[in-house]
Amino acid sequence: MTAFDPWSSCVAAPPDPILALAAEFANDPLPNTEKANLGVGAYRDEEGNPWILPVVRKAEQEIVSDPSMNHEYLPIAGYAPFLQASARLLFGKDAKIINEGRLATNQTISGSGANHLGAEFVQRFYPFPTERKVIYVTDPTWPNHFAIFRGGGLETETYTYYDPKHYALDFEGMIKALLGMPDRSVVLLHACAHNPSGVDPTQEQWQQIAAVFQKKQHFAFFDSAYQGFASGDFDRDAYAVRYFADHDIPMLVCQSFAKNAGLYGERIGALHVPVKSSSEVAPVHSQLNSIQRSELSSMPAFGARIVAKLINNPEFFAEWQQNVKTMAGRIEEMRKALYSLLVDELKTPGSWKHILEQTGMFSFLGLDKQQCARLVKEGHIYLVATSRISMAGLNKYNLKLVATWIDRVVRSETKL
Ligand code: LMR
Repeated sequence: MTAFDPWSSCVAAPPDPILALAAEFANDPLPNTEKANLGVGAYRDEEGNPWILPVVRKAEQEIVSDPSMNHEYLPIAGYAPFLQASARLLFGKDAKIINEGRLATNQTISGSGANHLGAEFVQRFYPFPTERKVIYVTDPTWPNHFAIFRGGGLETETYTYYDPKHYALDFEGMIKALLGMPDRSVVLLHACAHNPSGVDPTQEQWQQIAAVFQKKQHFAFFDSAYQGFASGDFDRDAYAVRYFADHDIPMLVCQSFAKNAGLYGERIGALHVPVKSSSEVAPVHSQLNSIQRSELSSMPAFGARIVAKLINNPEFFAEWQQNVKTMAGRIEEMRKALYSLLVDELKTPGSWKHILEQTGMFSFLGLDKQQCARLVKEGHIYLVATSRISMAGLNKYNLKLVATWIDRVVRSETKL
């Protein structure tokens, strides 16, 4: 008798389009001056190294030398000083929903965990307009949104967002799409520094988008993974979230501290659900807790302790703001340097102004799949197939190499 093999029909899952690139880069034997990792959206300093924010170092030291610190379980909702602080950072310290006690906040496993918890909660309790539980996501969006929302029991549909011809926001198309959805649809919005396009609405456009949400009674499912990264200013980057909250548009916000505090591996984030009346906080909170308990039991403590210190200690907060400006500023410099190399030095055919105009961690170069494949295979320039590059992966050692290869694939008719 042949032995029973329960996994014989288990085929390999496709590699992750972003994280698999990081592994390919690491396995590439070339020295760092002859290859570039522009795949994963993780900040690197001017030497190409991961950066531990100086203020995070200080907070860590305070935590480990605190004699009252222990390793007990956190409450299911998370670390209380973190919950309050993260809400203030996002909504502003004088936010109506905080003052009126109309906010349910749960700690999550970074932004991914917040998106998952948000999807699960919406899937269980949101009164969807049709029998299908659909979340509309921007076209394009972070590829993992599709898998996370599917895992949380939602169907995904894309809506018009980016105009590839003009490398810009297709604002008219977006408004038309929002108006065309059934009333009370659940719609994903990137709070700032849209991933992957780097294209955000202006403040005036956000106001018009909010007006459509009010007219259609849509539900805004915000993903805020880059607060501080777009402009270097926490308040400015929270404009859309605060505008929607101030106008009492039904919403939730997924918040991540991976990028703005450089706490990628600590998996620290939050899900914020503003509610209409304070009496709704307890039931909403209890349901969020019940999902968390069944899936993860309780949250990891270290990242929450760090972020609470960054926000609650005024000296740390001032220093954190400076650290965020440093990161946003270096990314801005890299935009200018890449643009200048392509346009002024190499005279690369095409318009490259979008590199300057896009914002946040990423630039969408506008290259086709084959050109991207050539950059990876021949140039050892690692980028995702949509031609999204992480600007933070550029530095003085690889800038020229990257620009030269972009120039080469744009000029060359040769296809792989
Ligand atoms: C990215 O988009 O590169 C980051 O958000 C990292 C990730 O998990 O995909």
